[in-house]
Amino acid sequence: MAKKVLLFGDIGIDDTIAILYAYMNDEIDIVGMVADYGNISRENALANIQYVRSLFDSEEIENVKIIVGAEIPMTGELPEYVPEIHGEYGLGPIIPETDGQDGVSENFHDIVEIIEQYQDELVIVNIGRLTSLATMFLLYPDLMRKIKSYYIMGGAFWVPGNVTAVSEANFHGDPVAAQLVLSNTNNNVTIIPLNVTQQAIATPEMVDYIDQVGELPMVKTLLDYYYDYYKERDPNIQGSPLHDVLTLMAINQEDMFTFQHLPVQIVQAREGTERGQSIADIRPYSNMEEEAEEEIRTHRIAFGLDYPKFYTRFMTVMSGQRFD
Ligand code: BDR
Ligand code: CA
Repeated sequence: MAKKVLLFGDIGIDDTIAILYAYMNDEIDIVGMVADYGNISRENALANIQYVRSLFDSEEIENVKIIVGAEIPMTGELPEYVPEIHGEYGLGPIIPETDGQDGVSENFHDIVEIIEQYQDELVIVNIGRLTSLATMFLLYPDLMRKIKSYYIMGGAFWVPGNVTAVSEANFHGDPVAAQLVLSNTNNNVTIIPLNVTQQAIATPEMVDYIDQVGELPMVKTLLDYYYDYYKERDPNIQGSPLHDVLTLMAINQEDMFTFQHLPVQIVQAREGTERGQSIADIRPYSNMEEEAEEEIRTHRIAFGLDYPKFYTRFMTVMSGQRFD
């Protein structure tokens, strides 16, 4: 039975690969997508969802509800986009034809209808900043308790961040929203941090194979662009880290990971190195709850990744060939 997924994303390159992975995978049924600012503007995120959808001649995909999400973080400041990583429009060198406004009005309340339709069958996957998801907790806290599970791409625990020395982009972009979500969820959140997503590497050889045998022309265009950025920053890296794809894969492939359940706090600083830092408490006598100002909850965090399992699953789905 396919998992019903409501996806919140900031539709850059790895978000888009995650959407393509879902479209190629009959174990995942995306029932709605919320387009948020983040890697790029909300408008470009909307345009990218529409562009990717237009590549598939599928009524099922055509019917996926696109929802207009947040334009700025809860902190109120104007977001800083990252075209050097994801491209001017978020699709590397690709310029999507649509302008992001076709047929989509301000429809944030449609999320309520999706949750009420799927209730405890629904899995929420957040692969961007957490502003829209946190807004749902502000407006509809009882409704959000009906959600079966949350998978969140974010954080870096005792490993380097990718925005500052300690902070990961999704939590850094809106630390208020990240803490609000983690303080209002109970025992049904899985955090997929840089600890494992930096290991989820798509090498040029993998990308070329998918390009040769698969039916997805965009993958090579997108991931070659993505790899150029990462190779420039770290010549030793063997390919592009698929942060968002790994997070979506986790909903069905738990055996790819090892987890720990730890209390988590997000540093609420408006600027500086520590803004959005994700802190987990591994002390046996943990009393972060008393020490922190925020409501601290314990969440499941992925710390280990079985790369061969990731490779086999990703390549099987994206190429349509068997890899096991
Ligand atoms: C996260 O930030 C974005 O750049 C990626 O799309 C991913 O969601 C990684 O830190
Ligand atoms: Ca993302």
